Parts: sequence; C-alpha cells; structure tokens
Amino acid sequence: MKEPVQKNLKDEKKLQKKVIKSEGKELRFKQTLRSLPDGVILMSDSWDIQWMNPIAERDLHLNAEHDVGKKIHACYPNGELLKNILKGKRQIETQNIHGRIIEIRVISAGTKYKVLVTRDVTEEKRSEEFRRDFVANVSHELRTPLTVIKGFLELSEDWQLTEQQKKHLQLMYEQVERMGALVNDLLTLSRLERDSAPAAKEPINLIKLLTESAIDGRFISQGNHSIILEHLDNATVLGDPVEMKSAIINLVSNAVRYTPQGGQITISSHRSEDGLVISVKDNGIGIAQEAIPRVTERFYRVDKSRSRETGGTGLGLAIVKHVLFRHQSHLKITSELGKGSNFQIVIPNDRILWN
Ligand SMILES: Nc1ncnc2c1ncn2[C@@H]1O[C@H](COP(=O)(O)OP(=O)(O)OP(=O)(O)O)[C@@H](O)[C@H]1O
Ligand SMILES: [Mg+2]
Repeated sequence: MKEPVQKNLKDEKKLQKKVIKSEGKELRFKQTLRSLPDGVILMSDSWDIQWMNPIAERDLHLNAEHDVGKKIHACYPNGELLKNILKGKRQIETQNIHGRIIEIRVISAGTKYKVLVTRDVTEEKRSEEFRRDFVANVSHELRTPLTVIKGFLELSEDWQLTEQQKKHLQLMYEQVERMGALVNDLLTLSRLERDSAPAAKEPINLIKLLTESAIDGRFISQGNHSIILEHLDNATVLGDPVEMKSAIINLVSNAVRYTPQGGQITISSHRSEDGLVISVKDNGIGIAQEAIPRVTERFYRVDKSRSRETGGTGLGLAIVKHVLFRHQSHLKITSELGKGSNFQIVIPNDRILWN
C-alpha cells in the first residue's frame, strides 16, 4: 500500500517541477517580447487577443487589461485595417489617434495562433519625405545655372582658342551635359516616388514600342553592337507610354553600355503565365550574383570606375523599378559574369490586351 502513495507523490513533484519550468519559460518569453522595440499582439486564429506588450498598447492605443479576450477589430475599430487584415493582406499602414503612422505586419504562427507586429514608422516617413523634397528642390534649382553655363560653352565655338583651351572647354561641356542628365534623372525619380497612384492605362502598341526602342538603341550604340528584335507577340500594353518607353530604353542603353564592341543585344517578348514578358538580353560583361539584388538601388554601380567612364550615375534601374511598380509590374534579372545579362519586364495580364 505504501508504494503507490510514494509513486504518486513523486509524479506530483515531477509535474510541479515541469509546470514551474514551463511557467518560467513562458515568463522569460513574455519578458523578451515585452522588451522588444516593436509592438507584439498574440492572438488566436479567430483574432481573439491573448496577450500584448506595452509598445503594441501604445501604437494601437489599446489597453491590455480591457482588451485581452476581445477580438482585435472590436478594440481597434479602423474599418480599412479590419478589411485588409481579413482579406489576408500581410502588411498594412494605419494612422493611430495621435496621428502616428504605424506599420502592422500579420504573421501566422502555426494553425492556432496569429501574431501582429506593430512599428511606429512616423519619423522614417518624415525623413524620407524631407529627403525627397530636398532632392527635388535642389535638382530643380540646379537646372537654370546649368543651362546658362551650357549656353556660354556653346558660344565658345566662335572664339579664337588654342587646341589646349578647346580641349578644356570640351571637357567642361561633357561634364555639364552629365550633370544635366543627372539632374533630369533625379527629377524623374522624385516625381515617380511622389506619385504613388497607379500609372495610366493608355493603349501602347507593343511591336511599335519595341521597334522604336531598338532604333534608339542602335543610335546609342553608334553601330558598335548588333541589336535585333525577336519573337514579337502582337499585344497592347495598358500603361503610361512615356514611362514604359523610358523603362525599356534604360535597359537597352545599359545593354549597350555594358556590352563590349561587337556584342549582341536581343529585344524580345513572350506570353507567360504571369502576363507579358519583355526581355532585353545581352552577351556583355554580366553581373556577379551577389550584386544582382543591389543594381536597382539608387546610385549603385557594380564597377564605379567603369560606370563613370561610360557616364553612368546609377539612377537608371531605380527609375525602371519605380516605373514598373506604378504599373504593378516587376523586373526579373538573370546574369552571369563574363557571359551576359537578361533583364525581363513582367507586366500582369490585367494590363495587357492580346491582339
Ligand atoms: N546589362 C548590364 N550588364 C552588366 N551590368 C549592368 C547591366 N545593366 C546594369 N548593370 C549594372 O548595374 C548598375 C546600375 O545600373 P543603372 O542603369 O541603374 O546605372 P548606370 O547605368 O550606372 O547609370 P545611369 O543612371 O546612367 O543609368 C550599373 O552601373 C552596372 O554596374
Ligand atoms: Mg543605366
């Protein structure tokens, strides 16, 4: 009779130890979440709040004492937020009652739980806006002095100058032209960044667009490359004609710039599951795998000295990325060092009319 009682006591102690251990683990886990710089709300799969840290209380103006046990959309009655969360959107932005901009991410933790992570991005947004306005204003102000300097340099053709002086003025002229191109690119970029609305849906004839791009490419190449058009599907793209043309020309001019003399550039298009794919392929210098994700960043150039030599500023692909974003489209880059690159624009089906 003695034995089972002792066994029971042993089991109970074991269990107690286990409970204490797991409570300790939970406490440590919650303490860690409490000290995170981001807000965290743990919820059941049906959006019942189970726990939140103080940052989440502050960001979404919630109160753990009152709100735990309630549904998230009953506590934070923002219709848009609720709609987007229920629609399954993973990341949203909302403004809280203090006017702070809060980024909210929804993460599924297994099948039973959901986690909302909140982050106050007000300062980030403000400094981003300040940077954009600053760049736009400075670029705009630089236009007039540049035009004046260029005008004077053009007049110098009529002056009596030594060969050396002519050479210096020619160099000045080239640099002023470069600055002009940079200022224009900066203005284009800040206009695209400011305008977050989707691009227009004007009909653009695909064959005409690509044929014109090839002609412009041949002009840029000055006969140094063979630029060919291949497999053109006839389709109508619904977009902004000026922006789309500028995106393709940027890719073609890169292909020319980063392909040695005698190389081949192929412009083609094909239909895919995701929509229409426009491809600009070259057999030039290529890009190292680790640099591929960075080439669309502003001012990023793989080889700074070579790019400067060829007049590049590193804004072209940033412009392409923004143009495509405004068209719900994206850029796919494949490249191999020393073999060449393929830049593909993927345009979704709802911006294409197949002829
Ligand atoms: N077809 C290509 N082949 C190899 N490298 C490329 C190609 N296209 C782009 N790159 C690399 O990506 C970088 C960024 O390209 P991007 O067009 O943004 O700038 P850029 O050509 O240097 O200057 P610009 O602002 O005049 O376009 C380039 O500097 C180059 O290193
Ligand atoms: Mg470029």
